[in-house]
Amino acid sequence: MTRLGILLSGRGSNFLAIAESIRLGKLKAQIATVISNRADAPGIDSARALGLPARVLPSQGLKRVEHDQQVVAALRNAGVELVILAGYLRLLSPWFVQQFPGKILNIHPSLLPAFPGLEAQRQALDYGVQFSGCTVHFVDEHLDHGAIILQKAVPVLATDDEHSLSERILVQEHIAYSEAIALIAGGDYRIEGRRVLVDAGNRPGKSHL
Ligand code: GRF
Repeated sequence: MTRLGILLSGRGSNFLAIAESIRLGKLKAQIATVISNRADAPGIDSARALGLPARVLPSQGLKRVEHDQQVVAALRNAGVELVILAGYLRLLSPWFVQQFPGKILNIHPSLLPAFPGLEAQRQALDYGVQFSGCTVHFVDEHLDHGAIILQKAVPVLATDDEHSLSERILVQEHIAYSEAIALIAGGDYRIEGRRVLVDAGNRPGKSHL
């Protein structure tokens, strides 16, 4: 079973959704370690409460590469095969990305390439788009940029504020991340340019649109 290393900085709801998919047998993987760069991340408390190996590796005051070296060492010690960024508020150094080629995933709360970076839901509202959603993608050296594995769209309603839109997107994030991990862990895909191509029969749940 694929050994996952979860990196997070905060709430950890995506991590918990992944843990739940594993518990329910929907996702055939195991969480080898959960690492936070912040001691006060609620996600790290959740990991401990579930009895999972959890570590805090503080990033504050360290150079990016120094911190990345510690994180990569911890991931290797735990035998991690697939690195899952789940609300990890750090840009990975190119060196980190090269340590796990094609094996680092991120989730972002917009339909990339629209609205990369912070406050994607706010950006979507301010822009006036009528649909937004979430994107699971491979991580490369650039922010929210690597090849797209899976997207799910949600409508933006006239009554939405940042909170309500974020909630609607989050429901889809929790579904999308486990589906994308199952796809990549299963290895039944190929990459052509920026396109991640999956045999039709293996394509997990479609967007509800
Ligand atoms: C999610 O919206 C995710 O898309 C973004 O950061 C947020 C993390 O939420 N990258 P959580 O910590 O998983 O609850």
